[in-house]
Amino acid sequence: MKNLNLKKLAPAGDKKIKWAGQRMPVLNLIAQEFAKTKPFKNLKIGACLHVTTETANLIKTLKIGGAKVYLAASNPLSTQNEVVAALTIYEKIPVYAYHGEDEKFYHQALLKILSQKPDLLIDDGADLISLAVQTKNYQQVIGASEETTTGVVRIINLEKNNQLPFPTFAVNDARVKNLFDNRYGTGQSTIDGIIRATNTLLAGKNFVVLGYGWCGKGLAQRAKGMGSNVFVTEVDPVKALEARMDGFKVLPATEAARIGDVFVTVTGNIDVLTAKHFSQMKDGAIFANSGHFNVEINLKDLNKIAKQKRLIRNNLEEYTLKNNKRIYLLAEGRLVNLAAAEGHPSEVMDLSFATQALAQEYLLKNQTKLDKKVYFLPEKIEEKIAFLKLKSMNIKIDSLTPKQKKYMNSWDLGTLEN
Ligand code: NAI
Repeated sequence: MKNLNLKKLAPAGDKKIKWAGQRMPVLNLIAQEFAKTKPFKNLKIGACLHVTTETANLIKTLKIGGAKVYLAASNPLSTQNEVVAALTIYEKIPVYAYHGEDEKFYHQALLKILSQKPDLLIDDGADLISLAVQTKNYQQVIGASEETTTGVVRIINLEKNNQLPFPTFAVNDARVKNLFDNRYGTGQSTIDGIIRATNTLLAGKNFVVLGYGWCGKGLAQRAKGMGSNVFVTEVDPVKALEARMDGFKVLPATEAARIGDVFVTVTGNIDVLTAKHFSQMKDGAIFANSGHFNVEINLKDLNKIAKQKRLIRNNLEEYTLKNNKRIYLLAEGRLVNLAAAEGHPSEVMDLSFATQALAQEYLLKNQTKLDKKVYFLPEKIEEKIAFLKLKSMNIKIDSLTPKQKKYMNSWDLGTLEN
């Protein structure tokens, strides 16, 4: 562990965690419920999540529910050291993370978590789950829940290969997660990361969004709101059509490369920006990634075609290409919203982590009925979270009348009595 002065950092971390907590009313209500029911009494939870103020509130909630929690970071640049400090000093949580940790430390951190023989796993990107499978360190694991799209792709692939060793909930696929976290959270915080790293003006710029999934949609919308001309690249014809009808220009990435001022990859795929794109970019072009892994921008290619690189400011590297153009990479191609900014706002993570907390509780309660499969959260739990959030926002909605319910459940519509 890097020599962090935990005692010195902890008070600042504590204040920030509490500030985030004030904006997480649903998670707070769940914590109150857990304080009474203690669903995780005598259980160990191993978590691999971005170590942010919002994650700290989730960890505190699980602890209130009786769990002993072990935490590692799901990205080397997303860890906030003061959060590590506050969790370690005030909550006595073993946290194996620091900002800027290397691959070796990361791997060791995950192994340390597994060596604690956790009963439940919470993952963001499925590295912890994959390592449990690779090292056959899962005999006692009751189940897991996965936070992000890329992680869900991986657990589904494990299931297809008959290698998923325990029931795993795809928390990402809950509507209360992706409609808000992926869309509004990534949309806002990615813009935040770009601005913090560059202080560039987005109005009037050509802003290219590569990938029009949940995250891409939110990002395109927000970039438009900042006054950018938004361009979208896609490989799925339906998403491409959706982007066009949402009012964006759709084109292949090689064409976008020539006109973009700012590029963001957010596909969950590999090699989205490569040498053929970098070499076409304008002098001054800025590019970043907001997808889970740092594989979307091909850094090997970039280093190959660059003759010089230098750090201009935090999270902003200038690459001078052999054609003498200077192009700018943000946050080493890692999640720009978490590396250069602070990730999603607390109000959004309130929904995501309420979903995580209730998924873990559901998993535990229903363990005897669950197989070694990928599961999606029951609609009732999603509705509970949405209702609690609406209540916290003082918003009331209508409910179906008995006649409306009957109508919606019938097929012989004409014969229904008035
Ligand atoms: P999604 O599956 O909804 O969308 C991804 C889109 O990218 C799809 O429409 C797909 O057709 C498209 N795509 C795939 N390969 C492409 C290529 N070569 N060129 C252009 N488009 C391509 O996924 P979602 O939820 O939008 O997530 C995207 C990534 O962002 C994932 O890695 C996910 O884990 C990550 N994520 C990051 C967050 C953050 O805080 N930065 C938050 C949530 C998710």
